Amino acid sequence: MRRWAIASTISLLAGCGPEAVEQTREQETVLASDQEIVGGTDATIAASPWQVSLQDSPGSHFCGGSVLNENWILTAQHCVNENGTIIKPEWVAAGITTLNGMSSSGQIRSVAEVIVYPGYVDVNQGKDVALLRLSAPLDLSGANVKAIPLATAADEAAGITNAGVVARVTGWGALTGSGNAFPDTLQTVDVSLLSNSSAQSAYAGDTIGSDQLAAASPGKDSCQGDSGGPLTVLKNGTRVLVGVVSWGEGCADSHYPGMYARVASFESWIASKINDGGPLTATLP
Ligand code: ARG
Repeated sequence: MRRWAIASTISLLAGCGPEAVEQTREQETVLASDQEIVGGTDATIAASPWQVSLQDSPGSHFCGGSVLNENWILTAQHCVNENGTIIKPEWVAAGITTLNGMSSSGQIRSVAEVIVYPGYVDVNQGKDVALLRLSAPLDLSGANVKAIPLATAADEAAGITNAGVVARVTGWGALTGSGNAFPDTLQTVDVSLLSNSSAQSAYAGDTIGSDQLAAASPGKDSCQGDSGGPLTVLKNGTRVLVGVVSWGEGCADSHYPGMYARVASFESWIASKINDGGPLTATLP
């Protein structure tokens, strides 16, 4: 069972079913009637070089993440917090397009430290972010592994996440809302950002906080297994990270948007953790 199943034990509304990626990835074919992330297309890691895969064993993907710098990954807290127990992912795989045969092309790291945002209860209540410090720095000099800048509070004030802005989400999560078909190849899809008041109307039973961000487009969404991964928008021609895949009722359900952690809300917390000097990375003379 993958850790993106955790949220379902907390709330059925989270729509994170306990499907096992390994069992389905190889054999499943997508039925013509299913919508393929959902509604996306094959991507290359060079187009989203900040995307990483969190894995239990090499190739066994359970969540996404984003490269913030050579030592730090941002992911969803529910990917690493199992009812209050913090679980280190075994591996972080960067620079890969496909999960199969990734060791030949990617940069695989273990995790030295997990830092969770304080006060997290469950995905529906926000605070769904965590930081992973890698055991050894990534090499960011190539085309396939790069850091992504974070959207700031100033970007938010300038409208970077206004309703109607087109954002991009990527991941190796489920291809369909039923959550039983998983891709080997990274998927990408563009979705429109919604206001928090629209999200609140859709999720009347929840309290959507200011640290959450909603996105939806017909037939398109992130889905189970995409959690922790990046939601980005263009800012002056460069992609910046505005969201972290968090939760949703089903996937690409026209009544329910996908929900993301709003990255700018965590600006100062992230900065205080990842700019702490970290492990020494200076090259020896
Ligand atoms: N909770 C899921 C995960 O852990 C993400 C679900 C996103 N759902 C959505 N409809 N956008 O992978």
